[in-house]
Amino acid sequence: MAVLPIRVAGDPVLRQKAKKVRKIDASIQKLIDDMIETMRAAPGVGLAASQVGVPLRIIVMEIPEFDDREQPKRDLYVLINPQIVKRSGERRLDEGCLSIPGYKAEVTRSVSVTVKGLNREGKEIRIKAEDNLLAEAIEHEVDHTKGTLYIDHLDSMDELVDLAEEEADTGSDSPVAETASAPADELKAPASGSRT
Ligand code: NI
Repeated sequence: MAVLPIRVAGDPVLRQKAKKVRKIDASIQKLIDDMIETMRAAPGVGLAASQVGVPLRIIVMEIPEFDDREQPKRDLYVLINPQIVKRSGERRLDEGCLSIPGYKAEVTRSVSVTVKGLNREGKEIRIKAEDNLLAEAIEHEVDHTKGTLYIDHLDSMDELVDLAEEEADTGSDSPVAETASAPADELKAPASGSRT
């Protein structure tokens, strides 16, 4: 496995419509392993293949959670050719993206999201998420497969919040859904919280 460089906004691959995966072969398995390692190293809660320069419809997500004994656990999701089949409700959420390091903004996302796709064994799976970070990550990552970034959902780029400035102003570190992973020396006050 290898940690791959994450493409940042301005890279045309992020704007490409990702292609459907036709055959889940060894190269796809290796790509998935590398994506998982890259997501964990960032760290982030989700990653799409386009973000590592491969315009294929593959997303990985891993949301930190606590089990019933308050022990941290992580549920890893790998989805090939993901397609949102149902969504309902609206909520406003802070969101960031590993490909837009150093920023976040508030976007409108669904409350409930159902996505279907193939797992890495090629079996069709469905995931339903409601009112949680996973629901937000699903919509964010599926957007990536279409060449859409969260900033496309904003009315104006003025809505973008510079995390370093916010940290300097308030000393707070608000949770963000796929915050950016700018290297610490570039971004003096890296946000904690989730990143996709
Ligand atoms: Ni993203």
